[in-house]
Amino acid sequence: MDVTFKVRRHDPRTGGKPSQQEYSVDLAPGATVFDALVQIREEQDGSLGFRGNCGRGFCGDCVVRMNGKLTLSCLTPVDKTVKDGVIAVEPAPYARQTKDLMYDDQTFLWDKYRAMKPWLVSDGAPAKPVTEEAMANVRTMMRCTMCGLCDFGCTVIDVDQGFMGPAALTKAYRFMIDPRDTATKERLTMAGEPKGMWDCVHCWEASEHCPVGIDPTHRIMDMRDLSVRHGIRSGKQNPKVARHYDSFAKSVKESGWLDEFKITMDTEGIMGSLRLAPVALKALTRGKVAVIHPKRSGAEHIKRIFEKVEAEFKAGQK
Ligand code: SF4
Ligand code: FES
Repeated sequence: MDVTFKVRRHDPRTGGKPSQQEYSVDLAPGATVFDALVQIREEQDGSLGFRGNCGRGFCGDCVVRMNGKLTLSCLTPVDKTVKDGVIAVEPAPYARQTKDLMYDDQTFLWDKYRAMKPWLVSDGAPAKPVTEEAMANVRTMMRCTMCGLCDFGCTVIDVDQGFMGPAALTKAYRFMIDPRDTATKERLTMAGEPKGMWDCVHCWEASEHCPVGIDPTHRIMDMRDLSVRHGIRSGKQNPKVARHYDSFAKSVKESGWLDEFKITMDTEGIMGSLRLAPVALKALTRGKVAVIHPKRSGAEHIKRIFEKVEAEFKAGQK
């Protein structure tokens, strides 16, 4: 199979502008894009820089963008990616580019992992035996290869690179659900700080990108649930989240509706709400929000659901 690879080249150390280089490669059936890059380096151009080690989807090291799609090059068959005989290969976004398709993800990924203390924390008490059942979900989480694809595809990171990101949050969750760990509350508080789990907009891109089925977006939702169950509705520096949460629940419980103006006032206060006035006006003129929310029919049933859940929650805490 003959394929033309259009590879973005750039070496920031030597200056110069990024360019695109074309390589024509004759590949064996079943070859992956990683195989092709190796072949190019061995047969045509030893200066081509790219990442990857295992060639099996295990090391998580070979993220690139191919024909616009972010993926691991070693898990991507050429015949499933090629379009009109061409594959355009570009480096992954956000992380610092070091050469061609290579990147340094220390700040983008590893510093965020480390902030979440990705190790077992013990309170010093003798370890108790753990059951296979209790470890089942932990084992699923341990499949994470730390490739960072969930972060590279994250729509929040696209606008705020300070966001902790699904990769680090998912790693934190892996320890939160580990029965041997004793720092769940501490981790939940860390994850609840600004730029943490509450900033996720659940666009599901992280889950779409994960190659091993960790489903990071779902895990962030699970983490939020866990946080509420532990009575930690936000981090210490993040009181707006708790106010938002309380106002949301109160509004739906009392009227059956979400009162967008009330929730904004309760969460942001007067000054913050004034800053959001242009957005509110736009939403109002487009019929996205209502000024008055009369009780909806069936509101009493909704209230009873809330009361039942609240009672069960309280009973579960005793
Ligand atoms: S959760 Fe999935 S996409 Fe994210 S780092 Fe782990 S393996 Fe990669
Ligand atoms: S080379 Fe290891 S995951 Fe692709």
